[in-house]
Amino acid sequence: MSRSPMIVRTVPALRRALDGLRARKATIALVPTMGALHDGHVSLVRLAKRRARKVIVSIFVNPTQFAPTEDFGSYPRTWKADLARLAAEDVDLIWNPDVKAMYPEGFATRIVPEGPATAGLEDRFRPHFFGGVATVVGKLFAQVRPDFAIFGEKDFQQLRVVARMAGDLDLGVKVIGSRTVRERDGLAMSSRNVYLTPEERQIAPVLYRAMKESAARLRAGDAVEDAMAGGAGQIASAGFVLDYFEARHAETLAPIASVKDGPVRILVAARLGKTRLIDNIGV
Ligand code: PAF
Repeated sequence: MSRSPMIVRTVPALRRALDGLRARKATIALVPTMGALHDGHVSLVRLAKRRARKVIVSIFVNPTQFAPTEDFGSYPRTWKADLARLAAEDVDLIWNPDVKAMYPEGFATRIVPEGPATAGLEDRFRPHFFGGVATVVGKLFAQVRPDFAIFGEKDFQQLRVVARMAGDLDLGVKVIGSRTVRERDGLAMSSRNVYLTPEERQIAPVLYRAMKESAARLRAGDAVEDAMAGGAGQIASAGFVLDYFEARHAETLAPIASVKDGPVRILVAARLGKTRLIDNIGV
């Protein structure tokens, strides 16, 4: 039978709770989230459970990673359902600070990531994003001091940025990527999929199909430019407005001239109506 996770909302209460959890030197895995949990998040929690004795999930919709024109206000908030899911997974603690607890009056420090954060992918279209993510994740790591932190591969550039930051700042946490969970038709699970209209939802899996076709062409030896142009054309014809559709080095995210420069990752971001979707696969 599952028990309700401990819910903590202030930093001093978190410290006290962590002292209890760390008794008998238990290892801790953190799963940072913004709530609106779906099966993809559950798979992160399950990986966390395999890695550590105690699992903490943070739920915090982080204002600093949204531009004023973006969806911070309307981002789905589904606290009751999230709590039920995390209780069913037997999570030990939910760290759920409010904005004041995370960014108290006078807060004036930011982490400005470089390297993978300036690869010219998400950062080209959301210039504020990785500064906000690195700052909040840096704070979460400092607050929780986890042994492991689990992030979804769906936000592939974010995973690279956070892993780099944890290493560069000697934060003592091992950042682990977890495979993207997909709907039956290939659409990557995302909290933002709820924004899609029924018609858009039918079109959305084109992203995954286009990536798979371009990956197959790259593996078959087609030139990078040709293979990627084919996928980009497919996505645009389906009605998306494409931000990027690129083959990059999977570790550095640098552009590649050939699959021999690999490991290679195909990354895409595209807008369908009001919804912006991102996805990626390995080649
Ligand atoms: O991927 C997310 O949900 C967020 O960017 C994260 C890592 C929880 C930071 O707010």
